[in-house]
Amino acid sequence: MIKKVGVAILGVGVVGGGTYQTLVQHHDFYVKTQQVDITVEKVLDRSVERMAQLGIPQECIAGNIEEIIANPNVDIVVETIGGIGVAKDFVTAALRNGKTVVTSNKELICKFSHELEKLAKRNHCGLYYEASCVGGVPIIRTLLDGVQANHIQSMMGIVNGTTNYILTKMTYEGADYTEVLKEAQKLGYAEANPTADVDGYDSMYKLSILSSMAFHTKIPYTKIFREGISSISAKDIAYGKELGYTLKLLAIGKNSGKEVEVRVHPTFIPKDHPLASVNDSFNAVYLTGDAVGDVMLYGRGAGALPTASAVVSDVIYAATHSDVKYSTFKNNATAEADIKFVSNFESAYYLRLTVADRAGAFAKVSGTFAKYGISIVKVTAEEGTTLILVTHTTKENAVKNALAKISENNLATIESVIRVEQ
Ligand code: HSE
Repeated sequence: MIKKVGVAILGVGVVGGGTYQTLVQHHDFYVKTQQVDITVEKVLDRSVERMAQLGIPQECIAGNIEEIIANPNVDIVVETIGGIGVAKDFVTAALRNGKTVVTSNKELICKFSHELEKLAKRNHCGLYYEASCVGGVPIIRTLLDGVQANHIQSMMGIVNGTTNYILTKMTYEGADYTEVLKEAQKLGYAEANPTADVDGYDSMYKLSILSSMAFHTKIPYTKIFREGISSISAKDIAYGKELGYTLKLLAIGKNSGKEVEVRVHPTFIPKDHPLASVNDSFNAVYLTGDAVGDVMLYGRGAGALPTASAVVSDVIYAATHSDVKYSTFKNNATAEADIKFVSNFESAYYLRLTVADRAGAFAKVSGTFAKYGISIVKVTAEEGTTLILVTHTTKENAVKNALAKISENNLATIESVIRVEQ
């Protein structure tokens, strides 16, 4: 028997527009393969022009959210507005009225999943958010249903398409940062305010969601160390290449069983690491579980149809499953619960310094590092007054303190500090 399901879409920008197109174009395919007849009953968007461009029939256009939540033909509400303003109000209203919600909104889920899931549970409806992380890559379903046999020990991901696009173009085409960012915006990868991408907030929200699922406890985003790519220079990418490294903005989560470590920052990885070949707007997550070992998921993390793929897959799942899984962790987004977070993490470091006095500069600088227990593995470039160093794995605070001392003693100007994962 074919099940009839009505959907409303809130926001038909890049992702919502792709969702509308996918639902309309694949309608018959879902009837045939999933035995579900999904129709878009209502669409709500500020832009009449955008809705006209998508060919949305007049009778499907809603004037306000009330028309949607009061409509008995709407079973599932898709939220693709983004942010935590009206999106949160609309999602809350939909759940209160017993509508299942499918959202692509990482900030909303990162900050409010706890209260929204409780609300969904109380109203016997579902809250699905596969599209909130890593676009079309089914990472959330994998964590919930594919690798749940494991203690996940670590997760390293390229989870932002915009920054990966920028870094790829800078690495292989020597492109200018500002120009490439504009291209990423045109292609629909970047957030409305691209600061969220380049300063690492978008990756931080996604890491909070993914590490919460992987480690079975809410990881508040406030506990994530965050650094973006806006101060990365083409010079560092080039020096890194000479050292055999590729630069990526990584979201890293590690769980030792006793402590959790979560951080987002530009990272040099060896050029033969599987994540080093993930280019352009592609994303990937590299997981390590105690039973399965290493698993890597790869695909498009941004853009209209890849993200719509995740949204629509959630719609189909919600339409065809009556049981809803909730993740409501024991602690909420602000509580510390019983998790211990590593703040002084360990890493190797790539450092670019401009030395004040070339004669004997390296001896003086390395002498300071030695005092802080840091050993240098490689010194590659010593051109003019530039000194490029790579340290052994060491504590973050030791490096910070040593660099502060080097500055204080006017031995060198610290141009760049980039963490290295081996
Ligand atoms: N701005 C995001 C990115 C969109 O570039 O990955 C997908 O979340």
